[in-house]
Amino acid sequence: MKATHFGFIISCIALLSCTATANAADPLNGRSLSKQCSVCHGKLGIAKDPEVPHLAGQSAFYVEKSLKDYQTGKREDRRMTLMVQNLSEQEIKDIAAWYESIVVTATLPE
Ligand code: HEC
Repeated sequence: MKATHFGFIISCIALLSCTATANAADPLNGRSLSKQCSVCHGKLGIAKDPEVPHLAGQSAFYVEKSLKDYQTGKREDRRMTLMVQNLSEQEIKDIAAWYESIVVTATLPE
């Protein structure tokens, strides 16, 4: 086989595995990653501290956007800025999918 053909095949395989891992969010992985968040946001995404927002049922889009905003410094909070430092893009997607998957019901006051 010519060297050029070989190189072409290798880059195809690399490309395939890249798109495969970047696509689907894995809420179960997000669930285990969210253990580090539950101290403040609660095990099920319902926070007890009034200063901390609930995440249960929040849209994945919003959670993902917020985490990225903390990472880039567009949004700042001393606790959150520290928490997102080592999260990869895939981990952020997984965590966002986990919080979105929690079902929340709302009841109007009497
Ligand atoms: C030390 C406590 C603490 C920990 C741990 C923590 N958070 Fe937070 N989080 C906060 C506080 C406080 C805010 C509100 C900050 C602000 O006003 O911007 C917040 C805000 C957020 C928001 C924005 C929510 C909104 O309604 O705008 C998201 C999303 C979030 N946290 C996700 C996470 C995730 C995911 C983790 C774990 C990787 C995590 N947090 C860990 C305290 C914490």
